[in-house]
Amino acid sequence: MTSSQITITQPDDWHLHLRDGDALNSVALFTARQFARAIIMPNLNPPVTTVVQAVEYLDQILAAVDGTDFEPLMTLYLTDNTSPDEIIAARKSCFIKALKLYPAGATTNSDAGVTDIRLCDDALEEMQKAGLPLLIHGEVTDPLVDIFDREKVFIETTLQPLMHRFPELKIVFEHITTKEAADFVLQSGDHIAATITPHHLLFNRNAMFQGGLQPHNYCLPVLKRDSHQQALLEIIRSGSNKFFLGTDSAPHAKTKKESACGCAGIFSAHAAIEIYTSIFDQQNALDKLESFASFNGPDFYGLPRNNKTITLIKEDWQIPEEYSLGTETLVPFLAGQTLNWKLAGNSH
Ligand code: DOR
Ligand code: ZN
Repeated sequence: MTSSQITITQPDDWHLHLRDGDALNSVALFTARQFARAIIMPNLNPPVTTVVQAVEYLDQILAAVDGTDFEPLMTLYLTDNTSPDEIIAARKSCFIKALKLYPAGATTNSDAGVTDIRLCDDALEEMQKAGLPLLIHGEVTDPLVDIFDREKVFIETTLQPLMHRFPELKIVFEHITTKEAADFVLQSGDHIAATITPHHLLFNRNAMFQGGLQPHNYCLPVLKRDSHQQALLEIIRSGSNKFFLGTDSAPHAKTKKESACGCAGIFSAHAAIEIYTSIFDQQNALDKLESFASFNGPDFYGLPRNNKTITLIKEDWQIPEEYSLGTETLVPFLAGQTLNWKLAGNSH
């Protein structure tokens, strides 16, 4: 059956980079016009490591989305020195929903990240007690490990031992990119779930090299080979409730992407729900979209599902080549391409 219109419970984005300052003001409304809530990544420079910093960041975001109902779900950046007291303060704050683990050096602004996860055991113990989820960038940073194997090796060397030490700790394996990660989450208990980005569903690593080097398709974890992309597509077709929407939308200025040392990150907030809808449609899985986008995330986090709905219409529209990012330029995911689903009431 082909549909020309679909109405779903308003979705949330369970993995989002909003940045701060001018960049924040340029990108925040893209998310607020489609999503009710988003989990906000704390990898600012300097990172958001304390509840006090998170309050300041929350205020900046709320100012940027003024006039909307958008609710930022804040996170703290876990470090070697995060204290159990900070975890208690985070739980009491009520607006901090999780902590983020960046292995030191794994990605953008991760220098202050964790050098050895065992150094965090006291904080993790407190998180397990408080029911605060740990959101994981699941890649080892050992330069001797091939970049395409870093997620798989992370599961064996870090994630499994961590889950053994903290069997009740809630974990979100963020932006999974491999069949190994998908299988691992499927086979593990209820305490672990995973987010999947639009770019890892739509592309494999060929997209980084098609017709020349394509910096706008470079992100971390890096795109993997086709068989892994197929495994992720199979997951969304399966409708498993352990997987949910997380864009990992990560804006960087065009000059920083198109550079001799280009940054990792793909900006998809301009059309996130429309891109996911096109993917689900293409997979003949539109009936699985609502649980992936709007139910599985809040159910895992223990938050209520949203009350409002959004409607998407099957209608062609063209993604702009560029948006502005403060005084800089931002090249969005799928720039210049035609999408066949459009959010109703959205003029772009
Ligand atoms: O591609 C990425 N960009 N991966 C990350 O983990 C971080 C993000 C960013 O902040 O730019
Ligand atoms: Zn991210």
